[in-house]
Amino acid sequence: MLSLLFEALTGSRALLKSPLRRREELKWVSSAREMCRADEKIGVEDNHQTGDPPFGLSNFTVIKEGEAGILVHHQNEVFYNKTQVNNRDMSIAVLRTFISKRKQEHEAMLSRRAKARKVAKEPAVKQAVTVTAMHNRESNDGCEVSQEISEDEPCSISDDPAAGQEREGQDELKPPRVLEALSASGLRALRYACEVDGIGQVVALDNDKASIEACRRNIKFNGSMACLKVESHLADARVYMLTHPKEFDAVDLDPYGSPSVFLDSAVQSIVDGGILMCTATDMAVLCGGNGEVCYSKYGSYPLRGKYCHEMALRILLACIESHANRYKRYVVPVLSVQMDFYVRVFVRIYTSASEMKNTPLKLSYVYQCTGCDSFHLQPVGRSVSKVHILMLK
Ligand SMILES: C[S@@+](CC[C@H](N)C(=O)[O-])C[C@H]1O[C@@H](n2cnc3c(N)ncnc32)[C@H](O)[C@@H]1O
Repeated sequence: MLSLLFEALTGSRALLKSPLRRREELKWVSSAREMCRADEKIGVEDNHQTGDPPFGLSNFTVIKEGEAGILVHHQNEVFYNKTQVNNRDMSIAVLRTFISKRKQEHEAMLSRRAKARKVAKEPAVKQAVTVTAMHNRESNDGCEVSQEISEDEPCSISDDPAAGQEREGQDELKPPRVLEALSASGLRALRYACEVDGIGQVVALDNDKASIEACRRNIKFNGSMACLKVESHLADARVYMLTHPKEFDAVDLDPYGSPSVFLDSAVQSIVDGGILMCTATDMAVLCGGNGEVCYSKYGSYPLRGKYCHEMALRILLACIESHANRYKRYVVPVLSVQMDFYVRVFVRIYTSASEMKNTPLKLSYVYQCTGCDSFHLQPVGRSVSKVHILMLK
């Protein structure tokens, strides 16, 4: 039985309903109704083209969550799970933190680069001085020669101001692009766009036509900002992610049941240092209810110990790591949570062939006593320093 070690951080925000908040909600719903009337006209026009009956607000219920709202049709079969509100709230908090962390990392990288440039320049200046001095010594009228050499200096590529500007453009940190691979009504994608400052484009996918129609209706319903930031596509998420390698800073997987079939393409569609947010709701499988199925989906055999929920998280993390390793990538867990009826993990993904080799250090076999709750971990690998190996020889 393999499990992956991870760091778990906690942090979710309490949602308290104050009277003020309730008043705000009512205000929001009435303005949403106005928007919907305007939207109805769009619906009538669209439906004239498709031949479908026009939709009116009477056929819909408005559901508000956070800063976004969705229209749920009375006969609608598009997935909306009210109980996943905590999942969406938590993901928003993590995305916000990810964006500010990435900004800090980017600034640190720029200052490191600037320092490296400065250091790289210093020996060149010294060299120029030495060459100049030598010329001065070698020729009696060395003044002219030394001038020629020192005038050449600023022409080096590193001092070209145009090149500098070009590099500055590359140094800019672009707003993160987010992929909500399994979007259903688009509520999560809309909340990301409305509630996460500094977010870039949010792409919402679904392979179900009715879901994408609902998602597009909801994008319009949420106004111009949502229309600008959220785009939706009818697509198989696996194909879309495979054909968009290293394009997204954040990828969200929120499937029915197991995410296992999406992991291979998801780990490839994320940029270096990007974040994968992944839910698994097949808790019975992950917690040892059906060990063979768990092994076939996740590559680990679960135990039904008292720690089965923690083990479920570790199994999912190990599975993501194993998919990442196939592409010389590895994961760094940021937050791993078991709540309600699911587990959700947030991991950053990096590329490094040498770091990838450390994966066995993160994995263990678990020996569980059949008579009591005691268990023992046997790491799959251990690191031995080269000096140590030489001494043993
Ligand atoms: C649990 S729902 C998503 C809920 C949504 N993330 C939310 O927070 O409200 C899963 C969705 O994935 C879609 N789906 C399933 N397989 C898919 C695939 N291969 N490609 C794209 N979408 C898929 C389903 O149609 C369904 O709408």
